[in-house]
Amino acid sequence: MASFVGRTVKLILLLLFLTTTCDAKTYVGITNDLGGGMNLTFHCKSADDELGVKVLPPQQYYEFSFKPTLIGRTDFYCSFQ
Ligand SMILES: *[C@@H]1O[C@H](CO)[C@@H](O)[C@H](O)[C@H]1NC(C)=O
Repeated sequence: MASFVGRTVKLILLLLFLTTTCDAKTYVGITNDLGGGMNLTFHCKSADDELGVKVLPPQQYYEFSFKPTLIGRTDFYCSFQ
C-alpha cells in the first residue's frame, strides 16, 4: 500500500472495447498500462453486479461482461487506484 501513498501516480488507463451487439452481452476489457511495475487496483459495480476489488498486475488484462437491459441502460461504476 505504501507505493500508493505520497506519490503522484500517472494513470494511463486503457479502457478497451466496449462492444454491444443486439442479442448479446457487453464486454468490457481493462489493461494495466500504468508502467513502473505498478499494480492497478480497481473496483467495478453496477446496480446488479458487484465485481469486488481486483488487483491487475502490470500489462495484464481483465475482462468482464454483462447483459444490458432491453430498455434503458446499464451503468457500471469503476474506481481505479
Ligand atoms: C502487486 O500485487 C501482487 C499480488 O497481490 C503482489 O505480490 C505485489 O507485491 C504487488 N506489487 C506491487 C508493486 O505493489
